[in-house]
Amino acid sequence: INQGNGVKGLSEMGLKALPKQYIQPLEERMCMTNVQAHDSIPVIDMSNPEDPKVTKSICEAASKWGFFQIVNHDVPVEVLENVKDATYKFFALPAEVKNKYSKEHSSSNNVRFGTSFTPQAEKALEWKDYLSLFYVSEEEAFALWPSVCREQVLDYMKKSEVVIKQLLKVLMNGLNLHEIDETKELLLMGSMRTNLNYYPKCPNPELTVGVGRHSDVSTLTILLQDEIGGLFVRGNDSDNWIHVPPIKGSLVINVGDALQIISNGKYRSVEHRVVANGSKNRISVPIFVNPMLGRNRTTETKRKHNRCSFSPYNSCKNYGKHNSTRYVL
Ligand code: SIN
Ligand code: FE2
Repeated sequence: INQGNGVKGLSEMGLKALPKQYIQPLEERMCMTNVQAHDSIPVIDMSNPEDPKVTKSICEAASKWGFFQIVNHDVPVEVLENVKDATYKFFALPAEVKNKYSKEHSSSNNVRFGTSFTPQAEKALEWKDYLSLFYVSEEEAFALWPSVCREQVLDYMKKSEVVIKQLLKVLMNGLNLHEIDETKELLLMGSMRTNLNYYPKCPNPELTVGVGRHSDVSTLTILLQDEIGGLFVRGNDSDNWIHVPPIKGSLVINVGDALQIISNGKYRSVEHRVVANGSKNRISVPIFVNPMLGRNRTTETKRKHNRCSFSPYNSCKNYGKHNSTRYVL
């Protein structure tokens, strides 16, 4: 019935009820009584990134929350607006064009249009579509990435690099590893992947999820979200979830599993999730900065947890079992 237009296609059929495959078990649904209103993740002004007050608040946020937002960073607002527009343009393409990038048809593993998170492995599907773009080179991006979004995504990645390096430097200094030389930088910033996420409006948002709870396997994730909201982060007292309010021009930063491991647990890779929305479509555009493992070697990274997947979606439902991670460096 879906004609290969992903969850967006389902949403636009005007279904009265959520299809069965998307109904999540109770324990995976977001329970609004667990939402904590009195806490919020820090918002950090990056106008003076070297100010000791700023560097201190970055390290503290990464330790305490694993998440923070940055404002007055160097990524121009137009670049962010352009990549959001490009995201809408990509998902508005006809199904047959998007499906050129699906698992079955994509000419490269570096470009993947998908719907839901590893559908084969999951008990229930998530209410979202995505396009995942693994960066190798500009040449490859021009050859393989969809033309409606490639320049905007490349620009977003390139302009974000400055702030990513600033943040990694601050975080490494916070570990007293002082000089972050080129080798360390390469280790922390070995590869980058950008996902364009599309969460269509949903007939029964309370029965499903946009993205189920997971932590990222990355070093650091930089996330651009639109004005809709719906991202929740696990709070310090485990059963509470904290909303990450959209702030125009801001970027959400979170510590991934690799940085938690490199920092010996000082910086925390914290679970997060996205709720489905009953009245609005939402988009988000994360950049996953990954440690250098090499493309094939990434798949050697194993966890005991069998729900883990090194899918292009690049995140892992590991329920906080970070200790079972074994990176093969
Ligand atoms: C994710 O963490 O997988 C997505 C976050 C978002 O869409 O806000
Ligand atoms: Fe994530």
